[in-house]
Amino acid sequence: MHKLINGDSKEILKQFADNSFHAVITDPPYGINIRKEKWDNSLPELEIWQECYRVLKPGGMIMAFADPRNYHHLACDLEKCGFNTYPLFCWIYPNGFPKGMNLSKEIDKELLRGNPTEEFKDYLRSKMSEKNLSGNKIEQILGIRGMFSHYFGKANPQYPSPKVWEKLKELLDLDNRYDEIIYFKRNKSHLSLVRENGTSYKYLKDNFNSYTPKTDEGKLWDEYRYGAASIKPALTPIYVGQKPFKGKFVKNFMTHNTGAINTKGENYPCNVLMDSKIDLSEKNYFENITADNYEYCSKSVVKEKGEYNNHPTVKPIDLMKRLIHLTVPKGGKILDPFCGSGTTLIAANLEGVESIGIEKEYRYYQIAHRRLLELNEDVSYA
Ligand SMILES: C[S@@+](CC[C@H](N)C(=O)[O-])C[C@H]1O[C@@H](n2cnc3c(N)ncnc32)[C@H](O)[C@@H]1O
Repeated sequence: MHKLINGDSKEILKQFADNSFHAVITDPPYGINIRKEKWDNSLPELEIWQECYRVLKPGGMIMAFADPRNYHHLACDLEKCGFNTYPLFCWIYPNGFPKGMNLSKEIDKELLRGNPTEEFKDYLRSKMSEKNLSGNKIEQILGIRGMFSHYFGKANPQYPSPKVWEKLKELLDLDNRYDEIIYFKRNKSHLSLVRENGTSYKYLKDNFNSYTPKTDEGKLWDEYRYGAASIKPALTPIYVGQKPFKGKFVKNFMTHNTGAINTKGENYPCNVLMDSKIDLSEKNYFENITADNYEYCSKSVVKEKGEYNNHPTVKPIDLMKRLIHLTVPKGGKILDPFCGSGTTLIAANLEGVESIGIEKEYRYYQIAHRRLLELNEDVSYA
């Protein structure tokens, strides 16, 4: 039996009795403003976690996804509510992209670009008078208010951006002599992913390295990257915590059936969860990603989540299943207070576990509703 509720968990959770769920398994907002979505502006309010704590049975586990940059805030919030922190889980996947800047290119840009030279200014002036166009007029035509003062003046002197330069070239019939200086475009990613034939992807490995540093300083830092996103992201941390049990753990367990880890059939389940596309028998598996992998990945995900599902952070069903399998006994009941497109509820159904999911945004609630209808199971909607 499952229940999907459209509403704010801050309010909805108040309806539930104390000690009524075996586990909270959830993928909350990460507070990283993903795709500029408002709901991801900040981490969940403490009150929601306090409510989760209240409605969990003593000894009940909580598992919550987080961003590696602010996992620690989530962990502190949950500890403040009373949870005991367990060693975290990691979900490892092959398809994140590094976005760091090419350091040698940025150094070259700094050293070579410099300020607009007198020759550059003279060249621009001569072409402007040839075309009988003033700076103001050009700014009007190109929609670049206030920029000419930077090309010619002393305050914050700079060359035009590549975009403006292209327009200027066309308007004033400029040649390519300043292209090299102006075209130090930021080449952010080391490995760029290109869509092919609309569906499959190709990993272009040489993009970043195709830049040949020009200055001695630039050569020194060839193949270095700069910025927080320079490392290929390949893991998502999952907070694991437990509401303290009452009295002796075994007595607590016998009363509530909470807090046990299911190791049946596998002696050492570990806290690293691999994406199914990672083949560890392959050497350097992160390097050996081919177009096929991506094709497989994008197809299987769309097939699994539904063509209509445009939620930006859908988790794989198998991943959610695994978390439930480890921490919730058959016939148990879980809560997902941030259920998005309903993946946790679908996984709970496959694991023979009851579930309640709450989603604030009606557009996502509708998607979850549709996915759950396809299950043909006993689901109620509110
Ligand atoms: C990271 S997404 C979950 C995606 C989900 N794992 C899936 O596979 O579709 C988090 C969701 O929490 C929802 N949300 C944010 N704040 C909420 C709140 N206070 N109450 C209920 N839902 C909320 C957001 O609208 C968003 O859909």
